[in-house]
Amino acid sequence: MSTILPHGGTLINLYQPDFDITTIQKQISIDQTALSDLELIATGAYSPLTGFFTQKDYENVVTNMRLSDGTIWSLPITLPLHEEEAIHYSVGEPVLLTYKGIAYGVLTIEDIYRPDQPKEAQEVYKTTDAAHPGVQKLLQRGSVYLGGPIQLIRRIERTQFADFYFDPIETRQLFQEKGWKNIVGFQTRNPVHRAHEYIQKTALEIVDGLLLNPLVGETKSDDIPADVRMESYEVLLKDYYPANRVQLAVFPAAMRYAGPREAVFHAIVRKNYGCTHFIVGRDHAGVGNYYGTYDAQKIFDQFTQEEIGITLLFFEHSFYCSKCEGMASSKTCPHDQEHHVILSGTKVREMLRAGEVPPSTFSRKEVIEVLIRGLKAKETVQ
Ligand code: ADX
Repeated sequence: MSTILPHGGTLINLYQPDFDITTIQKQISIDQTALSDLELIATGAYSPLTGFFTQKDYENVVTNMRLSDGTIWSLPITLPLHEEEAIHYSVGEPVLLTYKGIAYGVLTIEDIYRPDQPKEAQEVYKTTDAAHPGVQKLLQRGSVYLGGPIQLIRRIERTQFADFYFDPIETRQLFQEKGWKNIVGFQTRNPVHRAHEYIQKTALEIVDGLLLNPLVGETKSDDIPADVRMESYEVLLKDYYPANRVQLAVFPAAMRYAGPREAVFHAIVRKNYGCTHFIVGRDHAGVGNYYGTYDAQKIFDQFTQEEIGITLLFFEHSFYCSKCEGMASSKTCPHDQEHHVILSGTKVREMLRAGEVPPSTFSRKEVIEVLIRGLKAKETVQ
């Protein structure tokens, strides 16, 4: 049985479909990121959070990577509004949180504050460059934050990948049923290429099960769409992974591209899903050249094992080496770079969109076939 405690000790559950909303007058139309955050708070994926950040927690997290009670937390989970919308709300009021006209939650406003967004960008994303996709979104979403506890009153209807949505309580149950004691979580926003497979399987040698947990919330427009990726995971798992050692489940959060800070967030959330181990490889959750290759590993040096709770498995940049005739990293391969198959994500996406096939030493042919077909289909509908 997976016995790892949720972050903060208790798995939060704020789903209250019977919550009485009849007297609530006001509503806020929230964006997709806030909707996914609302649900992830309520299902306990973001334990110990019970709502959107108040100023106190926000400032502590931005500056110290801790909630005001000292618990480690790395990304601000905020509900931003534009100034002209914010004037309609006051502290103490309950408001409905709606998306496309449907009410999904209730926020009891505890705090309304104006954040120092350049500071947030610098501390969280390590840059104030508006070209960074996380900073760009931060600046677009609004400059007044509403904080306070939430209730989820309605679940989001899943039309896509319905079989792969599990709440933390369900993944914990699944791990128990499978008899897995040690589970490694793997975050990805990409297809599983050979390097990903190599580090997953290396980890699998020392744990009982793998939670392949692709992020399917909002990503930047040039990332490979989630539906195409999901198909690629399924074909890969079918042919190359033992079925009784892998669980595929989606992670419905938005991607922040916050590199090191997001690696901490990703690890904590996977702990809440019941993982005992978490993989952090090269440039985890990175984008462009904003972060050093191993910054997302080094950031964990500032925490004790006891307070982070989950065991981190760090991997070097991995590649196929033609001299080794196998996958390797600088820790295991003595050969020069000219023997290594290394392709950037951008290069691979360009090849796929042009219908070119990257070498099988980079990605398995079954995966590539799905990607080329999937991307082509999207182009014809656009
Ligand atoms: S991420 O934004 O979700 O981190 P990606 O899907 O590319 O992006 O990476 C998933 C995980 O695999 C991350 O932990 C990342 O560090 C790791 N990773 C990706 N490529 C490599 C590689 N070539 N060598 C080692 N680790 C890698």
